[in-house]
Amino acid sequence: MNLTITMLSYDHGIIRQVLDVLADLAAENAFDRYRSEMEKVSEFLLNFMDKYHHGREELVVFPISSEGGSELPEKVDKLIQEHRRALELAENIAAALQAGDNESLRENCLEIVAHMRDHIKEEEEVVFPKLEELLTGDKDCDAFELSQSYVEEGFGESFPRDMEEFANRFQDAVWGKGVIKFSAIKD
Ligand SMILES: [Fe+2]
Ligand SMILES: [Fe+2]
Repeated sequence: MNLTITMLSYDHGIIRQVLDVLADLAAENAFDRYRSEMEKVSEFLLNFMDKYHHGREELVVFPISSEGGSELPEKVDKLIQEHRRALELAENIAAALQAGDNESLRENCLEIVAHMRDHIKEEEEVVFPKLEELLTGDKDCDAFELSQSYVEEGFGESFPRDMEEFANRFQDAVWGKGVIKFSAIKD
């Protein structure tokens, strides 16, 4: 088992959980009812999705793509462009929240959900398996350590657990406690 890739895949589970709940909230246009949760979602997208998760992918695993076949660096470049677009959308969401512009909020939320679902699928199904082949033995340990120091310096030790707890609280607030949606089972 590859430590570094497993850890990044674990983040995907948390991001997808927040996106699934956000998708329903946005489809229902329930932004006013969940105003305080939306403030937290906005922080989650900027800090956990962008800085913490995309930051670690770009620092720790994407650089090794240059050791892979010719297609891999190209695919990774595209993923990096997608990170930039995801950040733009997260910034649009923050701005729309601030302005109380529910129309723009809905548009940007639905777009970030679709964008990030595709992005994570590409990583999980195509790019991560290839990176896993390159990231063996000591390289995996070094990458894992680099990731840990990035987290300790920039976020503090409790950050990942806090974000995971937020994802659960957000789900409970919107879907109700203990509810497993059909759409979540389906995929
Ligand atoms: Fe990514
Ligand atoms: Fe990712």
